[in-house]
Amino acid sequence: MSQFRTLDQADLKNKRVLVRVDLNVPMDNGKVTDATRIERIAPTITEIANKGGKVILLAHFGRPKGRDPKESLKPVAAAVAEIIKRPVAFADDCIGDVARSAIDKMKPGDILCLENTRFYKEEEKNDPAFVDKLAALGDIYVNDAFSAAHRAHASTEGLGHKLPTYAGRTMQAEVEALSKALEAPTRPVAAVAGGAKVSTKLDLLGNLLDKVDVLIIGGAMANTFLLALGKPVGKSLVEADLVSTARDIMDKAKAKGREIVLPVDVVVAKEFKAHAPSRVAGIDDVAADEMILDIGPRSIEYVVSVLARCKTLVWNGPFGAFEMEPFDTGTIEAAEAAAELTQAGKIVSVAGGGDTVAALNAAGAADRFSYVSTAGGAFLEWLEGKSLPGVEILRAK
Ligand code: 3PG
Ligand code: MG
Repeated sequence: MSQFRTLDQADLKNKRVLVRVDLNVPMDNGKVTDATRIERIAPTITEIANKGGKVILLAHFGRPKGRDPKESLKPVAAAVAEIIKRPVAFADDCIGDVARSAIDKMKPGDILCLENTRFYKEEEKNDPAFVDKLAALGDIYVNDAFSAAHRAHASTEGLGHKLPTYAGRTMQAEVEALSKALEAPTRPVAAVAGGAKVSTKLDLLGNLLDKVDVLIIGGAMANTFLLALGKPVGKSLVEADLVSTARDIMDKAKAKGREIVLPVDVVVAKEFKAHAPSRVAGIDDVAADEMILDIGPRSIEYVVSVLARCKTLVWNGPFGAFEMEPFDTGTIEAAEAAAELTQAGKIVSVAGGGDTVAALNAAGAADRFSYVSTAGGAFLEWLEGKSLPGVEILRAK
């Protein structure tokens, strides 16, 4: 992170600070149902305000096609105010006279949230004229939205070309945690790659094989690997057309001296539903009318023993059908083991992407990991080894 400019280097006093945050939070009936992303950006907002900056929040919400009151940031701005315990003003537009006159009224330490940047299609196009209109509203640009950093949009990337640019505290923490886990980790490094489909995780598996010592494959993805090994998978979710790809991945792992961990036993049921009657089966012993819904007890023990000999863990995706009891057992027990090892100071554990946070929260383990990212797509692209435009723009020029 040393190559990034952070708030430590920024002269904030009396400055209009455009702060890109991720306010794309889950909402139900106008209420925020999970405020984690807001809690994460709170320190950046209060620090800038306390140092006498005028905090102007820029963010997107949803994927609107043009201006749509259902995707207004107004209720989210109210939630921000509640969490940081300070007033947050709101302007109905993110550019033009409405935004400018709201900003003109600001005093040092004030906080203002501008309306959804995606109400303009120019935002996603990173349109230079739109970037200029945003840039005209501020003196300094702070990006604190790691979870939107895979987008090269006007407010996530374009502004970095126009204004003095700094990483916010959450961006800084996120990039530091991820770098610690994958760029310069303490070895051995294990990765848990779970989820349903090999097809959506090919780049991720390829990059992880370059970077980690042990790749633990979970979720329905593992079924495709078991099939590639000639194991019976019954009516499990599987991608038969990717069997040769799975074989290539295993060959590549062998050639590189990497270990791939697959289930050695599984929990099977005849129906895909919570509490469906189930049994533990060996991996040679899955019947034609059964489907694999979780890893079995010997597999859990195996995974836990692998974690115990590693120093770093990167986790993406659940082991089994974790949204249905009792098929969440593998994920819960492996996550518990990772949390305990972390708390004992034996591993650094970083998790994120898609379902992962929900799975670790459900397992009651998220708080005890070293770092849990709030990013979905951005975390996955990082694991794929891609550079993120919103991070690249922060590198000191
Ligand atoms: C997210 O919620 O993953 C980020 O805010 C990015 O949103 P997007 O996928 O709509 O670009
Ligand atoms: Mg997304």
